[in-house]
Amino acid sequence: MSYLPANIDIGEDDRIFDIASLVAEREPDRYRLHTRHLNEMMVRVLQTIGFNVGFTRGAGQYLYDGAGVRYLDLLSGWGVFAIGRNHPVLREALTSVLAEDLPNLVQMDVPVLAGLLAERLLKHVPYLDKVFFTNSGSEAVESAIKFARCATGRAGIAYCDHAFHGLSYGALSLNGDPMFRDGFGTLLPGCCEVPFNNLAALEKALSTREIAAFIVEPIQGKGVNIPDDLYLRGAQALCRKYGTLFVADEVQTGLGRTGRFLAVEHWGVEPDMVLLAKALSGGHVPIGAVLVRKQIFEKVFNRMDRAVVHGSTFGKNDLAMAAGLATLEVIESERLIQNAARTGARLLEAFQGMARNYELVKAVRGKGLMIGVEFGAPRSLKLKAAWTLLETVGTGLFCQLITIPLFRDHKILAQVAGHANHTVKLLPTLGITDADCDWIERSFDAVIADSHRVPGAVWSLGKTLADHALKARAAR
Ligand SMILES: Cc1ncc(COP(=O)(O)O)c(C=O)c1O
Repeated sequence: MSYLPANIDIGEDDRIFDIASLVAEREPDRYRLHTRHLNEMMVRVLQTIGFNVGFTRGAGQYLYDGAGVRYLDLLSGWGVFAIGRNHPVLREALTSVLAEDLPNLVQMDVPVLAGLLAERLLKHVPYLDKVFFTNSGSEAVESAIKFARCATGRAGIAYCDHAFHGLSYGALSLNGDPMFRDGFGTLLPGCCEVPFNNLAALEKALSTREIAAFIVEPIQGKGVNIPDDLYLRGAQALCRKYGTLFVADEVQTGLGRTGRFLAVEHWGVEPDMVLLAKALSGGHVPIGAVLVRKQIFEKVFNRMDRAVVHGSTFGKNDLAMAAGLATLEVIESERLIQNAARTGARLLEAFQGMARNYELVKAVRGKGLMIGVEFGAPRSLKLKAAWTLLETVGTGLFCQLITIPLFRDHKILAQVAGHANHTVKLLPTLGITDADCDWIERSFDAVIADSHRVPGAVWSLGKTLADHALKARAAR
């Protein structure tokens, strides 16, 4: 059917609103538009570190700049592209939702796609019963906070230092880095920080019996911090003992990232709530999900007049649900979890070799394709002097001496695992190949080797970055 009134006739040339032509035509304005209308500071960061190449295409694990140069993406959009960019199965699912003229967001109805996605997700997490869909990871965290408070009648939420659960107010109240919180005023009351990996501290907090939930990332994204083998099991036992709900934030670690469907499976725990987002979107349609026990869910949605007591307009929209279903289909049919486990183990071993060879590499941590390479103060005098100088200007600045040449000289996109952090993180698409692993290992080895030469190109770059940082500081 036509959406134009019968008396309006448009010429051939005007018939289509053509996004592709619009993008091509305005591509030269990309950075100017952002400087003018969006976040100028982001543009400045990209220019300073030389990441302003202007990517124009993405396919699988690769990005392409305007000149057609191929880059290997180890960020995968902060972890959303588990199945790779523009996967044909995902594309097909989204276009067929549009082609089917589905009613979508009727609100006073229950859509079949949401039911199917909930059913398929719960097959992977059989000890949980219900799913609540959101539009982002932060919104899943907000929902978990509300569900926990409502189900327990308690106000407190315990979270870990170095935690990252998102940046909306509830999630920010559970953020373990003051940098994110400074300047934003009063946060949610009753939130209590405990050191990660410390059961005694957790017990002290929970024994007040005021804590509704303990929320934890099984592997912390900021720093790629992996708990001791008994930590999560101990935490679960403490939660049960003190009537606190145990919530696993698997927004980053979930859906195969660590070589298991959920990272908690490595430690055999069964949380009361599991939070998913990022990868479930296929990288295209924002989505989050709270997988939760029936008893908790039914405390929130306990009467017909409370059927809409929590929710949001776009939750359960058809495109997001189709993206989730297509993502699970690809993860299962392409055996991406197995591939993440295998390639991750290979990379981890290679990096451990580098840690033995290079004194600047302090530690290597990871599970599956969530890997952190941590740098630290060297022993030899010349290197130590250069390191200390750079660290005085900015904690964690050294990592940019690794990520910048990786990008510029080896066409690998990677970043630091958090603010003021010494860990470079790898979070690639789960379908990377052995050839990609060769590319990663060769490139990191070359850049790390260069960073051990003082004076040398890497440390000249260090001086440039330090000058920039000092100038920026003086301008404040
Ligand atoms: C563990 C974790 N939880 C929550 C979030 C917030 O997700 P979103 O950015 O979709 O709001 C993130 C985002 O990086 C995350 O890593």
